Amino acid sequence: MNSQREINIIYVGAGAVGCFYASRMVQGGGNVRVSMVCRSNYKAVKESGLTMQTRNFGDYHFIPHRVFPNVQVAASEGPDVAESASNSGKWDYVVVTTKALPDIVDESRTIAPIVSPPSPDGKFPGSIIVLIQNGVGVEHLHRERFPQNPIVSAVTVISAEQVSHGVVRQNRWTRISIGAFTDGIGDRLVSGDQKAKQLHKAGEDAVAELNNIWTAGGIKDVEMHDEKGLQLVRWHKLTINASMNPSAVLSGGTGNARMSLDAELRRHLQGVMDEIFAAAPSILGRPFPNSLATPEVILKSTERNTGSKPSMLLDWEADRPLELEVILGNPVRIARSKGVEMPRTQSLYALLKMAQTRKEERKKQQPNKQSKL
Ligand SMILES: NC(=O)c1ccc[n+]([C@@H]2O[C@H](COP(=O)([O-])OP(=O)(O)OC[C@H]3O[C@@H](n4cnc5c(N)ncnc54)[C@H](OP(=O)(O)O)[C@@H]3O)[C@@H](O)[C@H]2O)c1
Repeated sequence: MNSQREINIIYVGAGAVGCFYASRMVQGGGNVRVSMVCRSNYKAVKESGLTMQTRNFGDYHFIPHRVFPNVQVAASEGPDVAESASNSGKWDYVVVTTKALPDIVDESRTIAPIVSPPSPDGKFPGSIIVLIQNGVGVEHLHRERFPQNPIVSAVTVISAEQVSHGVVRQNRWTRISIGAFTDGIGDRLVSGDQKAKQLHKAGEDAVAELNNIWTAGGIKDVEMHDEKGLQLVRWHKLTINASMNPSAVLSGGTGNARMSLDAELRRHLQGVMDEIFAAAPSILGRPFPNSLATPEVILKSTERNTGSKPSMLLDWEADRPLELEVILGNPVRIARSKGVEMPRTQSLYALLKMAQTRKEERKKQQPNKQSKL
């Protein structure tokens, strides 16, 4: 990294994905300073930093520039930049790497204390919000609350887990796809809205800068997309997440490989995937690029993916909240608002939502089984 200015980056969510991509940002050197807002792992990370066990980069230790117990403390203490810097006290990037749970918490409200608006002189574009989360529609609450701040939407293909507080293991893959977000379709850009164009330009500049930072940190497959292109990547990943994840839970805890090898379940998975594959291009007004795998190819490769459980099944088994809305509810609602029905995905959504509600009700009737919501 040759950037002259100091770049202050804060991650909210020091879990598997957050710690991995944060740690790779500092490996390229330069003026990048990465701080973390932790929660349950605060004590461990504050005292000893993070132990990274990675397949691609070996084992290493990552000590964030600053470690905070919550967003409020991060807001009051700030990034500790030089007094002379024009953006003194402001975070250049706020990277959200929590699980996306808009039915439980509005994360745009959570991060509000550390998001600064653009400066009137135009020198500071506003804190850039980066969302590295699964699902679709994860940007909407942030766009509503921060209409002037650039947003970068990011999709990652990685297998990583926090094995104990402060110890993160990356099992395989590193790919991160990034793209600017104005309204998800870029309609306002086409209609000539000047403010939207500026916002989009600031977002694109941020995408280029993030590409430089992560590439310098050794990530070989950072992929930059335009706005619609990135949304297509989100919907494409959904073909896997929206088919496999709820089906694994609703079929009583079945892994992906076994589901793909069961004749009836395979038909079902293919049906959900085909539905999303057909819906996304109509919603976004652009076909999937040929480079993205078709449902048949995804199912074929899933046959070999033995031993792996989808994250939603792991969350279900551990009584943690599910990313139900961003993986099922939002797609169904977004499609419906564009006149596209997705009956298979809607059925999965309705069934799993009720299963979750009933599970919560049962837990409330057993006072010693505490809810983790
Ligand atoms: N892990 C993967 O392999 C993988 C792969 C692709 C995509 N993804 C996606 O990436 C996103 C992140 O997943 P993940 O696996 O990294 O989840 P994770 O390991 O559960 O990490 C999320 C972290 O966010 C923290 N957090 C939640 N709310 C917070 C708050 N208000 N303030 C501070 N910290 C907060 C959690 O703290 P607590 O520990 O206290 O709950 C946890 O440490 C999800 O959308 C997921 O679907 C994950």
